[in-house]
Amino acid sequence: DWTMRAFREEAIEKIRAQVGTGKVICGLSGGVDSAVAAVLIHEAIGDQLTCVFVDHGLLRKDEGKSVVDLFRHHYNIPLVHVDVSETFLGALKGVTDPEQKRKTIGKLFIDVFEAEARRVGGADFLAQGTLYPDVIESVSFTGGPSVTIKSHHNVGGLPERMNMKLVEPLRELFKDEVRALGRELGLPDVFVGRHPFPGPGLAIRCPGEITEEKLEILRNADAVYIDQIRKAGLYDVIWQAFAVLLPVRSVGVMGDGRTYDYVVGLRAVTSTDGMTADFYPFEMSFLGATATRIINEVKGVNRVVYDVTSKPPGTIEWE
Ligand code: XMP
Repeated sequence: DWTMRAFREEAIEKIRAQVGTGKVICGLSGGVDSAVAAVLIHEAIGDQLTCVFVDHGLLRKDEGKSVVDLFRHHYNIPLVHVDVSETFLGALKGVTDPEQKRKTIGKLFIDVFEAEARRVGGADFLAQGTLYPDVIESVSFTGGPSVTIKSHHNVGGLPERMNMKLVEPLRELFKDEVRALGRELGLPDVFVGRHPFPGPGLAIRCPGEITEEKLEILRNADAVYIDQIRKAGLYDVIWQAFAVLLPVRSVGVMGDGRTYDYVVGLRAVTSTDGMTADFYPFEMSFLGATATRIINEVKGVNRVVYDVTSKPPGTIEWE
């Protein structure tokens, strides 16, 4: 792709000009954006870059392993894997308000990056895979009043006390362009094609209070749902699909017994940039088979519903 080849060269020059001989910390989330940013910056400044993969306990099933494998084995880019799940889940205890969740997580991310910056002997820059829509949406909503819809964990709000400057080489790009750049940089197709995953992770797919028990149920339900989508050959047609664990139990019957378990919501949308989206019109037979599998395979769930809301008026994530 000619455009991306040119972009790559220009971006590398800009990164070198901005960073000079400074040290950069880059947070990896498991998503495409931060991975592309990291590989690009590594190409520009080599071992002045330290990548940090923050396991906040809000990742999907096997997510940590796939990111670590990609970076350590495929790229040979040094990667620090920090397990801070106890800190994050502890701080989120009792937090039910969506913005409060996002702010709590955003603050803890900064604490982690500051600690890592000290560990490498003082980093001058923090790199993030912020995209153009992230910049727009955390400021105002297209066509609407100028209010914050969601505080993206990775936009803008670095506190003054933080001495690091931001490096955001993807700030002018849309998702499809980031994917093209990722391919240009040689990232494997399976990774480039991954659905977007938000920095606050499963916290915003678990409305109400977050507990380990709920996260486990959510991870398992999500894994079955994504497996169903892959088997139906629909993964690449869909922009983003995930399960949500509703903070509600409902009564059911299984065999001769009464059940009283959680409700799982399924979300799938098509979109080109995440700023508007349409719910995906699955065949009823697909939805029925998926509900059956989730209820049979995931302990703690006895009911599955499908979200048929587009964006607007719904957002893609539930919080
Ligand atoms: P919404 O839910 O606002 O999401 O329609 C639009 C797209 O952005 C992702 N998203 C985030 N990504 N940090 C991120 O890196 C965040 O805080 C965040 N919040 C939402 C969401 O998954 C969707 O792709």
